[in-house]
Amino acid sequence: MREDTITRSIEEIDITKPAPTQEPMRQYYYIRKCREIVQEESKKLGRPLTARTVTFGCQMNARDSEKIVGILEEIGYQIVEDEKADFIIYNTCTVRENANLKVYGRLGALKKEKKKNPHMKLALCGCMMQEDVVVEKIQKSYSFVDLIFGTHNIFKFAELLYTRMQGDRMVIDIWKDTNEIVEDLPSERKFSFKAGVNVMFGCNNFCTYCIVPYVRGRERSRNPKDILQEIEKLVSDGVVEIMLLGQNVNSYGKDFEQPFSFAQLLEEVEKVEGLKRIRFMTSHPKDLSDELIQVMKQSKKICKHLHLPVQAGSSRLLRIMNRRYTKEQYLDLVAKIKKEIPDISLTTDIMVGFPGETEEDFMETMDVVRKVRYDAAYTFIYSKRTGTPAATMPDQVPEEVVKDRFQRLLAEIQSISAELTKEDEGTVQEVLVEEVNGQDAGLVTGRLSNNLLVHFKGDDSLIGELVNVKLVECKGFYYMGEIVAEA
Ligand code: 5AD
Ligand code: SF4
Repeated sequence: MREDTITRSIEEIDITKPAPTQEPMRQYYYIRKCREIVQEESKKLGRPLTARTVTFGCQMNARDSEKIVGILEEIGYQIVEDEKADFIIYNTCTVRENANLKVYGRLGALKKEKKKNPHMKLALCGCMMQEDVVVEKIQKSYSFVDLIFGTHNIFKFAELLYTRMQGDRMVIDIWKDTNEIVEDLPSERKFSFKAGVNVMFGCNNFCTYCIVPYVRGRERSRNPKDILQEIEKLVSDGVVEIMLLGQNVNSYGKDFEQPFSFAQLLEEVEKVEGLKRIRFMTSHPKDLSDELIQVMKQSKKICKHLHLPVQAGSSRLLRIMNRRYTKEQYLDLVAKIKKEIPDISLTTDIMVGFPGETEEDFMETMDVVRKVRYDAAYTFIYSKRTGTPAATMPDQVPEEVVKDRFQRLLAEIQSISAELTKEDEGTVQEVLVEEVNGQDAGLVTGRLSNNLLVHFKGDDSLIGELVNVKLVECKGFYYMGEIVAEA
């Protein structure tokens, strides 16, 4: 359904009748109900009510926040960027402990704010809220929070907010899992020219260090028709680049009765007229098919970039991590991809300090890094997540050892990626202009197909345009360039 159609459907809802039982009509009903309350309050205050969403974590959360903002806007909140807002929503992450600590830190600071400003509302949602211990702690130590919901029922946000507006107690609604995918809810996009599109939710892999399968539930693929319709609508609104999102996009469609692969989905997306670039993440190496490599190779729109998390180089550790590939299988896969698509840019996620990691295991990770030569890598220090199998494994690695390995890994990755970046110096490439440069307003920043950034002379009229840029000077992980007429 188109955005203006959604707005119209919301306006047509009769809120004197009981709430519809069908979604998304039920939520449209609650949006209208909330809207009345917000309008009244804003009349009393003589100004619009404001809302601010703070997003932690991955692209999935970023996309979820766009849905939350879409609902807030339909309710009538004015979206602002500072935390002096009337309604604050934290969309949380729990993949590493640090992410949780950040949220508790912010909540501590907000306690004072809320005392000064009792009408202010605070909601918490996202992955962290799927953990019982977190919700218990919030109930006990942060009782001023108004609303808590999880990853499976974001679509119910308006209904839950209305319940909170009607009562005077904290509202908590967390679902353990769901099969439900509610389409056609309002959603706001952060960028006019690029957008993230969910293709599937959840993860079935249960890597032993990872909390995601516990907080995001089992894999559920969206119907290809719904995905294509969403993309067509985005393109008609001016979007030229889309990022297909899923925790493990390579198992897309495996939950359908009639199997439909991710590669097939990509072929359909390729046909959308007006769409210029396609990206996707994340790919699990164990599921990356030959069919997908061929589709990427033949595609004119899929960016020459593959994010292929390796996590570790030691086959022994990979087995304990339940990654279901060995070092050799991973390296063979990389060799196959590079042979078929020689100009592909490869990026990865790597973890150091998994329980029992020895210096020999770590050297295997370094060996993979040197053999693959990643264009970029996200490096993480293992973080113990209660409830995962790894949390109770023996031989947790001492902090000093982990830090030392982390520094060595980082140095290696940085030196390789700087060398690779340098290789393209002097070439002309197509870039999508994303923004005016934050430091120098005479420059704009564009993204290459391989995901690297280039800064060059230009103004905001170029935003959202695909232009050819000569990569004049490599600056390590980005380029300074100049716009040229022809590729
Ligand atoms: N500790 C550290 N890093 C983790 N990741 C997932 N779980 C953990 C953990 N417990 C990393 C993995 C994954 C990325 C999104 O986060 O590398 O690919
Ligand atoms: Fe976590 Fe593994 Fe699933 Fe990725 S594939 S989300 S690391 S369990």
